[in-house]
Amino acid sequence: MQKAWLYEEYGPKEVVKLGEIPIPSPQPNELLIQVHAAALNPIDFKLRQNPLGPLDLPVVPGCDMAGVVVAKGDGVVKFEVGDEVYGNIQDFRAGGKLKQLGSLAEFIAVEEHLVAAKPKNLSFEEAASLPVAVQTAVEGFKTAGFEEGQSVFVVGGAGGVGTLAVQLAKKCYRACLVTATTSTGKVEFVKSLGADKVVDYTKTTYEQVEEKYDLVYDTIGDSRNSYVVAKEGAPVIDITWPPSNPKAQFSSLTVSGEVLAKIRPYLESGRLKAVVDPIGPFHFSDAISAFGYIETGRAWGKVVVSPFSSPPYLASAPPKINGF
Ligand SMILES: NC(=O)c1ccc[n+]([C@@H]2O[C@H](COP(=O)([O-])OP(=O)(O)OC[C@H]3O[C@@H](n4cnc5c(N)ncnc54)[C@H](OP(=O)(O)O)[C@@H]3O)[C@@H](O)[C@H]2O)c1
Repeated sequence: MQKAWLYEEYGPKEVVKLGEIPIPSPQPNELLIQVHAAALNPIDFKLRQNPLGPLDLPVVPGCDMAGVVVAKGDGVVKFEVGDEVYGNIQDFRAGGKLKQLGSLAEFIAVEEHLVAAKPKNLSFEEAASLPVAVQTAVEGFKTAGFEEGQSVFVVGGAGGVGTLAVQLAKKCYRACLVTATTSTGKVEFVKSLGADKVVDYTKTTYEQVEEKYDLVYDTIGDSRNSYVVAKEGAPVIDITWPPSNPKAQFSSLTVSGEVLAKIRPYLESGRLKAVVDPIGPFHFSDAISAFGYIETGRAWGKVVVSPFSSPPYLASAPPKINGF
């Protein structure tokens, strides 16, 4: 058996309880991973508050994780026992079939194509912070057809997705101008991610922004207002559903280890950085506080849960000695 956070009814964070579930056996093409760190995303509490579709209960929440492969099913070709991996284990596009057992558990079984080798320079905490946010951030630029050297206005530059959208724009797409919005206390933080300009939304309206942009990348669902900073005919990406502006393009993440493998050189060279909220990481035993924090909507980068204090994995039950 293993420890896992789980809920048996939908509702506020208090429905999530620490419980025990069996350690899953890896099926063909699956890895069994001992989780060392997990990260929370808004989808984790949105699903708990308002399920998108019927899910068997109990549900173990969580998409993002980093850990070590401790066993593998038949047909696994890319990974070996002992490999350090990370990934988003929930394939949102797999016909709406989300896994009942998510990443807030000591051990998880996951298809090998959903994970990638952990970049060597990243801690488990840093690696766990990345998958959902980076997969989403990358997809938004792809959906928009964003090209190197163009300009982008990121609405919500301090959140999980926004911190990566700002960095990707500047460091990977070499955008000519990256502007991002945030509140007063986070202006310097967002500048440190590479934004050329930061708009303090508590003091400045979109109408007061001087330039117009080749892309508006809205991570907070404000496209009904933020579109005014787009150049005539320029794409407005909204990653919240449904977009508040019907003319905005909704962009949804592609869940795959491939994106994570592709960004590895950027992470290992230090061009792209994982942004772990300094209020955390929250110990596994305190995952409820992590939910409480992310649900404020005020996180700086990613809310991480770590360490997971699980004992070493034993592939089979230890031999009994003298009947014990
Ligand atoms: N479509 C997809 O595939 C996909 C994937 C991932 C996430 N999402 C969705 O995208 C949204 C963002 O996700 P996330 O993980 O980035 O959330 P998050 O990390 O919880 O975002 C928190 C950030 O939002 C900022 N914020 C809140 N109101 C703001 C405002 N009016 N203007 C500017 N910034 C504001 C906050 O900064 P301040 O404290 O400065 O306000 C905070 O730093 C969520 O709705 C999530 O469900 C969609």
